[in-house]
Amino acid sequence: MIRTRVLGTGSYAPDKVLTNHDLEKMVETSDEWIQERTGITERHIADNGMATSDLAVEAGKRALDAAGVKPGDLDLILVATVTPDMVFPCTACIVQDKLGAKATVAFDISAACSGFIFALSTADAFIRSGIYKKVLVVGAETLSKITDWTDRNTCVLFGDGAGAVVLGPDESGHGVLSTHLHTDGSMGDLLYMPGGGSKHPASQWSVEQRLHYIKMRGNETFKIAVRALEDVVMEAINHNGLKPSDIDLMVPHQANLRIIQATAKRLDMPMDKVVVTINKYGNTSAASVPMALDEAVRDGRIKEGSMVLLEAFGGGLSWASALIKW
Ligand code: ACO
Repeated sequence: MIRTRVLGTGSYAPDKVLTNHDLEKMVETSDEWIQERTGITERHIADNGMATSDLAVEAGKRALDAAGVKPGDLDLILVATVTPDMVFPCTACIVQDKLGAKATVAFDISAACSGFIFALSTADAFIRSGIYKKVLVVGAETLSKITDWTDRNTCVLFGDGAGAVVLGPDESGHGVLSTHLHTDGSMGDLLYMPGGGSKHPASQWSVEQRLHYIKMRGNETFKIAVRALEDVVMEAINHNGLKPSDIDLMVPHQANLRIIQATAKRLDMPMDKVVVTINKYGNTSAASVPMALDEAVRDGRIKEGSMVLLEAFGGGLSWASALIKW
């Protein structure tokens, strides 16, 4: 039986760091409030001239190095992002060009913070069906470019970064055991960016109305996220005939430490089996799961045979899980 195996991982965060104390000088907030309510201490911010593809390429190169795969060997590049370089061409095509991967097919996937798992699931379907063999999946964001730095409700939450995996077919029984994807478009207005698309194209009016920034009803989103994530992690575990205690490591989307802790509690999982990076990166949307995954691979928490559970929740609304036998 062919499964999709992770051949290598990589991640990248821009050098510039914005701390909670820096934010105290920008909006009415405090380091104490941000740490208590979110778990965030600092986040990385891309320079003005840096686009999402620049971060994606760095993470992609590191994943390719780790996998021992050359850009020219790739069949498919998927980039999950809500902060593409431009409306079109897609960021994946820009990454394709920058990596020099001419023979590759490349396209973007848009599922906000769940985007990486949606892209992983898409790659898994292509690999298991035999259509493509070597796939680069990247989650990359420059959320700082669509953050309203005058809105304390959202500007303390987000950061920039990229994470990537190289995937290939494997018949040893290791690899992606399942993915579960969900969306509910009826709640799309809880978390969205209204401007810049065909509904509200850029205009003086759209800029004056501050439509080109993330809008989020945080408290309502929080409650729905906790419930949806509990359901989707149990769906993965039950689907594979496992118990929560069979999971060696959970790699959650990093939106809020309290959401991560609630999901761990539902699984009766001690926090040392949960990868937490939100303190240093904030919420990097589609990049957060692959960045956390790369950290756990490189520091040895994920080893051959580890049972690894990925989960994410975000705009759409969308939520997803993936179970991987490493
Ligand atoms: N500093 C100080 N006070 C603040 C700040 C701040 N940065 N932000 C909000 N407050 C205030 C509010 O104004 C409010 O004050 P009030 O009671 O006087 O009105 C109070 O703090 C409580 O606000 P809440 O919004 O109820 O705070 P909550 O505990 O819900 O925390 C947060 C807010 C952190 C946004 C939380 O709701 C959250 O994490 N939500 C979920 C985010 C999420 O999962 N998003 C999905 C993924 S993101 C994506 O897809 C791009």
